[in-house]
Amino acid sequence: MTRPVIRHVPDHVEGAITVRSPAKINLHLGVGARRADGYHALTTVYHAVGLYDDLVVTPAEQWKLTLTAAGHVDTDQVPGGDDNIVARAAALFAERAPERVRGRSANVHITKEIPVAGGMAGGSADAAAALVALDRLWGLHTSDEDLVALAGELGSDVPFALFGGTALGTGRGEVVDPVPDEGPWWWVVVPSEEGLSTPEVYAHFDRLSPDAPAEPAYPTELLAALAARDAVRLGAALRNDLQEAACDLRPELGDVIAAGEAAGAVRGILSGSGPTCVFLCTSGDHARDVAATLAADHPVVLVANGPVAGTHLLEYA
Ligand code: C5P
Repeated sequence: MTRPVIRHVPDHVEGAITVRSPAKINLHLGVGARRADGYHALTTVYHAVGLYDDLVVTPAEQWKLTLTAAGHVDTDQVPGGDDNIVARAAALFAERAPERVRGRSANVHITKEIPVAGGMAGGSADAAAALVALDRLWGLHTSDEDLVALAGELGSDVPFALFGGTALGTGRGEVVDPVPDEGPWWWVVVPSEEGLSTPEVYAHFDRLSPDAPAEPAYPTELLAALAARDAVRLGAALRNDLQEAACDLRPELGDVIAAGEAAGAVRGILSGSGPTCVFLCTSGDHARDVAATLAADHPVVLVANGPVAGTHLLEYA
């Protein structure tokens, strides 16, 4: 029997449903050459951390999407209308099961804690939450396997947002295999005031790395460090092949990473395509100490632990 991907969500609810989805960082982001379809071959180790977006979905006569956000989240950068990933999730259901979702709409409210355009897959978290919430609200009974496939169509990072935990990602990132990780690992998270465009960072990677291998680097040592539960070993094994490109586009990111390491973090690294920087610490207290030091120069400094659960139900009526 395959293990369930989505945790504790009843098959069907009648009223409001609140679904929570976590942010991710990449403990390893091995990037290969651009493929014929324009995406890059990836070998990555995703790691879900305790920053969350919550989606409340309620049956309604007309579509409505509203947003509230933590102070550090720049909501101006969230696409509205049909471009919003929640609308794209609904459109996918409409395409695949037109007779079952005909005439259905919903009131969707997103509470965002995950930085926007930050390299932490906040939009992907919203997409995963929308898939699960709309499936349950509309009683579609989509299997976990099919939800993961739909998630992969919405974006490379969306399947992992369903799984959570720690997982190996291959293909363009959409092929997800959970890896054992007992953690806990503690992270300091430093978002930037201005987001970075993922396609622009990949395009700059292409300019800087014209000879990127077809097969990206495999995280053998990192997986061993996770299994050994050794923070210093894990710190040494963290790797992000997009970091050079992102720091070249935003030189101040190199200073942020240096500042976190000077503040005592085991290691600092760019999260995904950036610009958020994350710092591995040895304990919750250590993370709070490093965060306090960084907070002197950075307006927003967060502490998060990982691995945490993927997309899951918070409450329903
Ligand atoms: O899959 P997703 O829509 O999240 O990807 C956003 C963009 O990031 C893509 O349009 C592409 O420019 C870049 N990308 C890539 N290779 C990947 C994943 C994303 O080049 N494996």
